[in-house]
Amino acid sequence: MFAVHLMAFYFSKLKEDQIKKVDRFLYHMRLSDETLLDIMTRFQTEMQRGLGKDSNPTASVKMLPTFVKAIPDGSENGEFLSLDLGGSKFRVSKAQVSEEGKQHVQMESQFYPTPNEIIRGNGSELFEYVADCLADFMKTKGLTHKKLPLGLTFSFPCRQTKLEEGILLSWTKKFKARGVQGTDVVSCLNKALKNHQDLDVDILALVNDTVGTMMTCAYDDPFCEVGVIIGTGTNACYMEDMSHIDLVEGDEGRMCINTEWGAFGDDGALEDIRTEFDRDLDLGSLNPGKQLFEKMISGLYLGELVRLILLKMAKAGLLFGGKKSSSLHTKGAIETRHVAAMEKYKEGLANTREILTDLGLEPSEADCVAVQHVCTIVSFRSANLCAAALAAILTRLRENKKLVRLRTTVGVDGTLYKIHPQYPKRLHKVVRRLVPNCDVRFLLSQSGSTMGAAMVTAVASRVQAQRKQIDKALALFQLTREQLVGMQDKMRVELEYGLKRDTHLLATVKMLPTYVCGMPDGTEKGKFLALDLGGTNFRVLLVKIRSGRRSVRMYHKIFAIPLEIMQGTGEELFDHIVQCIADFLDYMGLKGAQLPLGFTFSFPCRQTSIDKATLIEWTKGFKATDCEGEDMVDMLREAIKRRNEFDLDIVAVVNDTVGTMMTCGYEDPNCEIGLIAGTGSNVCYMEEMRNIEMVEGDQGKMCINTEWGGFGDNGCIDDIRTQYDKEVDEGSLNPGKQRYEKMTSGMYLGEIVRQILIDLTKQGLLFRGQISERLRTRGIFETKFLSQIESDRLALLQVRRILQQLGLDSTCEDSIVVKEVCGAVSRRAAQLCGAGMAAIVEKRRKDQGLEHLKITVGVDGTLYKLHPHFSTILQETVKDLAPRCDVTFLLSEDGSGKGAALITAVAKRLQQAQDN
Ligand code: BG6
Ligand code: BG6
Ligand code: GLC
Ligand code: GLC
Repeated sequence: MFAVHLMAFYFSKLKEDQIKKVDRFLYHMRLSDETLLDIMTRFQTEMQRGLGKDSNPTASVKMLPTFVKAIPDGSENGEFLSLDLGGSKFRVSKAQVSEEGKQHVQMESQFYPTPNEIIRGNGSELFEYVADCLADFMKTKGLTHKKLPLGLTFSFPCRQTKLEEGILLSWTKKFKARGVQGTDVVSCLNKALKNHQDLDVDILALVNDTVGTMMTCAYDDPFCEVGVIIGTGTNACYMEDMSHIDLVEGDEGRMCINTEWGAFGDDGALEDIRTEFDRDLDLGSLNPGKQLFEKMISGLYLGELVRLILLKMAKAGLLFGGKKSSSLHTKGAIETRHVAAMEKYKEGLANTREILTDLGLEPSEADCVAVQHVCTIVSFRSANLCAAALAAILTRLRENKKLVRLRTTVGVDGTLYKIHPQYPKRLHKVVRRLVPNCDVRFLLSQSGSTMGAAMVTAVASRVQAQRKQIDKALALFQLTREQLVGMQDKMRVELEYGLKRDTHLLATVKMLPTYVCGMPDGTEKGKFLALDLGGTNFRVLLVKIRSGRRSVRMYHKIFAIPLEIMQGTGEELFDHIVQCIADFLDYMGLKGAQLPLGFTFSFPCRQTSIDKATLIEWTKGFKATDCEGEDMVDMLREAIKRRNEFDLDIVAVVNDTVGTMMTCGYEDPNCEIGLIAGTGSNVCYMEEMRNIEMVEGDQGKMCINTEWGGFGDNGCIDDIRTQYDKEVDEGSLNPGKQRYEKMTSGMYLGEIVRQILIDLTKQGLLFRGQISERLRTRGIFETKFLSQIESDRLALLQVRRILQQLGLDSTCEDSIVVKEVCGAVSRRAAQLCGAGMAAIVEKRRKDQGLEHLKITVGVDGTLYKLHPHFSTILQETVKDLAPRCDVTFLLSEDGSGKGAALITAVAKRLQQAQDN
């Protein structure tokens, strides 16, 4: 009994002495909680630096965006291939995810060796080897000739701009293959796969092992938002708020950040805690000066640190009686598995003796105790450092969520964590001490990164399939040059039909004579009233023209026309118009003045003279009853009479295209075409009288209001009309009519967009598949919104804000799609409009027998004016389709009221001449 006590006493004394000795020797490796908290703060600063746009280039902790945005939600499914390269083992797997809707993953894997000559040889050979292993796996599993998506777990720092691409920043750990740094590893692998014609794999995702681990664990525990590797290397990833990630556009939701914490300290930030052993180890490594934090922590280095310490202690006579063996001098002789074995609770001491003996040493009992303690200090320091950095991440997560207490799960993997007997316990304990306000669950990843990578790939594959569906819908709006030439030709035919007496009445492009025969010559003068009805705004104007100086002064007022009046009775509409005139005269102090009036009336009218205009049919948003077939001048006169307050001399009725041409013609006599790209779409132009069969006389020219909006009403452009165009048409006030207008003008473009969005939402591709009340509301996308959404200067966030203003609750991804949809629709509109314009200018050129035509088009309309790309695309198309015409587009600054007044002035002069 006594002897046993004596032994125990002797042993504990020996132990105490040895421990004290080692503690003294490794004083610098023992880190107090105070130091750890300090390191934690430093790491917090480093993370911030890595996330900032300006500080990132010089930051040592790179905080790499991974483009993984969501943790698995259980809806993932399919069959996926997975490669896992960069840890201690290289593995190829196949994962079958969530068959029959229940969360379930089946995996088949195969490990392949990674000999040094491959991982430190030529880069292309490395990827060829990887491709060969994949081919072998697929052959064994009978997967050749099957198209499969692949997720690549690649455990090295890669700069990603999308999920399926990553530029290798630097090799770490044991890898150092030539010619890969700075290149995209996915392309490298794709290139190598070209040697295997029988394989059909689509690399959809590149993930770091930390990310794979986090995703694997998140499949079981949705609280998992951090992934940590403590294996050959060490690293962590976590879900960061998008609004904090400067390097990626968008502010919504979160994205996983691969911290690459292994590089912490590479800028000298940890010099005060690094020891001479760390420095020696670094010098002998494959990447001196790099991954300094990793080199104090991870499995690849722990054994070597222990060896360097033992060697130094032996040299100092503190161990093995001062004797060293050649093995103790050999780099890599002690591995992490040895450290783990030596620290085992019961067998540890015996293991230590065996290991040291195997190294050719003759350890005493005291030596074994001391060596065991060296291991403990080294591995403890590792766990402590890891804990400090992890505590920084957890604090960041808690602060991001503005929580007092954070409940979260950390997914962990890596051989050091898995095989070292004390490591997990120590790590967990220190983390909990450093961040007492975080309840952390540590979850060991059971199936490595593979399952997580398959999950990411599953999501990517779903996104890819959705992308295809979106592209398919938008492809309908992409017109080939051939199709545009076809449009131009058909328009040309319709223009001729409209002009010919025999076909005129049946023509869809009505080619209405306007009885405007010349451009203003500068002699016009006087005071005129003008009305401008049919565009976005209804305006009443007073126009003062001074002769000789080509100067015009205008005063105007905008009045609203309520929907119930636009679509009420004709009498109500005209009474309202007269009411507005009365208000205006009152406002201008002109009550009782009998002024000549020019009426811009932007609808198709059959005219027999300048002051007679029978409305053929309403277009756009008007539908007042009892007007079609009536003379608009008569209706206005009667309304004035009904009011019996003032009299007006209605001299001219003009279409807005004509008013616009005149407005511009006053500045540029070469302006012989008027174009409106606004609520509606239409063109007028000066035509040779001899070509206008419906009007007597062959001399000179007359302006023709083409009313090209009706182009296609006979079905001749149905080949390019999409289901969305048809839906817009069916929901309009005039189904079957104005088909070309409905593809090209502001009033309808937004509606086409809305129809596409509804369809994409129904397919589950937008707005989380929810069609909101707002989206069902006709007319929400006015031209101004389309124009804003498509503005190049707009960040995604602003697009989202506009959509929110419209009552559409969209994610960033939604916003991207909406912007694309708007782009496709407006581009087609501009191209179609360009094809129509090309037909007109080419006709003018040919009619005049000219080699080259130089002509100006006066333009107005909100679409043309506000949209960021419409005018450019329109002009490019005209240039392309009518290369022999030199067309200048002149924007009308003053609206068509001015032109209407000028026409009135000319008509008044002619009238007076006739009267005399
Ligand atoms: C494995 C993962 O389980 O752990 C790998 O599948 C990862 O992706 C590895 O790289 C990390 O540990 P080690 O010890 O193999 O480097
Ligand atoms: C205005 C003209 O500037 O533009 C109107 O004065 C014309 O006559 C209008 O109808 C067309 O554009 P929108 O976009 O208002 O229909
Ligand atoms: C190294 C790599 C890193 C990886 C880690 C764990 O630190 O740079 O990308 O996650 O090892 O394998
Ligand atoms: C509609 C009208 C037309 C007008 C055009 C532009 O197409 O029918 O007359 O010119 O809109 O406002």
